[in-house]
Amino acid sequence: LFSAIDMAPRDPILGITEAFNADTNPAKINLGVGVYYDDNGKVPLLECVQKAEAKLMEQQSPRTYLPIEGLAQYDKAVQELVFGADSPVIQEKRAITVQALGGTGALKLGADFLKRFSPNSEVFISDPSWENHRALFESAGFVVNNYSYYDPATHGVNFEGMIASLKSMPAGSIVVLHACCHNPTGADLTQAQWGSVIDAVRSNNLVPFLDMAYQGFGSGLAEDGAVVKRFVEAGGPLLVSNSFSKSFSLYGERVGALSVVASSAEEAARLLSQLKRVVRTNYSNPPVHGGKVVATVLATPELRQLWEAELAQMRVRIKQMRDELVAKLKAKAPSHDFDFVREQVGMFSYSGLTKEQVGKLREESIYAVDTGRICVAALNSKNIDRVVDVIAKVL
Ligand code: LMR
Repeated sequence: LFSAIDMAPRDPILGITEAFNADTNPAKINLGVGVYYDDNGKVPLLECVQKAEAKLMEQQSPRTYLPIEGLAQYDKAVQELVFGADSPVIQEKRAITVQALGGTGALKLGADFLKRFSPNSEVFISDPSWENHRALFESAGFVVNNYSYYDPATHGVNFEGMIASLKSMPAGSIVVLHACCHNPTGADLTQAQWGSVIDAVRSNNLVPFLDMAYQGFGSGLAEDGAVVKRFVEAGGPLLVSNSFSKSFSLYGERVGALSVVASSAEEAARLLSQLKRVVRTNYSNPPVHGGKVVATVLATPELRQLWEAELAQMRVRIKQMRDELVAKLKAKAPSHDFDFVREQVGMFSYSGLTKEQVGKLREESIYAVDTGRICVAALNSKNIDRVVDVIAKVL
């Protein structure tokens, strides 16, 4: 049975972490995976999380099963964060939110759910997109296509191309959009451009699936989440996956959620009953700890305030690293223009480095994604000079 099974390729992102972990060079630097490190190169354990955990420890609650759809307080708090507490979809009970195993888990729940009820739709992801989008929707059984998105010449969005792609998609197509902090390019739409995208999605009867894994890393929680509210205002079905891996630095706890907007409360109840079947047949129900931590922070005003401040610190540090990277590259490689790195938002920069150049970085134990994506959130005041020196050498 097993003798004919081929070796699968390494994962394009997590496979880099595997190679990094196996590297014995003490000066190694991992700019591959999207993880925020502090200025000491450590993944932070946020103070708001520590305080919530202390509170939970005092309660000493037994580890019973959660409901299939997750912890009720978590689902409620996440729904209010994603849509806004005063959103009509919450007041009219048209939104459902289920706890999921991180953003990836939320996407997979949405993909399996859509495959059951819209099996012939095709899925469209941005060109380029997060590597796992294609794999995940294909594994749910969909044909996955690209829509135009990135323009390497400007390092920005090919907006005309994107609108033309949206207009040419068959009605009922599922279009995966990055709500903010586009992964991998760091190139986001402007608010005005979002208006045209929403019009094209709605007038062509497409099914928008917003992937919001980096809320708070662009301009702020409200600004980064604004597009969700605009889709709600425009009416029609909507799916939103969100993740607290990055914004709470809770990567390994796998805390995310899938929210779906229905046209009525009665329809929402039917959708929830079906989503619960997807969950139940995959992993039964989600784990307790991460959901409790996030729910506690979001529902406790002092902790919520602390979280927003800690998130802002992460956002500001990434921006500083962008500025320093550009300034230092200007000094070391003056014939190359990296100013675009300042315009990009979120954790990533599509650096323009080629696959060969990335390979050369790796020879120096600096790890990046083959596409040239680097995680700016992994730079710090101690490693940036070496990164700049090696990039300048490779250029
Ligand atoms: C990334 O893009 O690096 C992150 O979203 C981590 C992952 O799961 O790929």
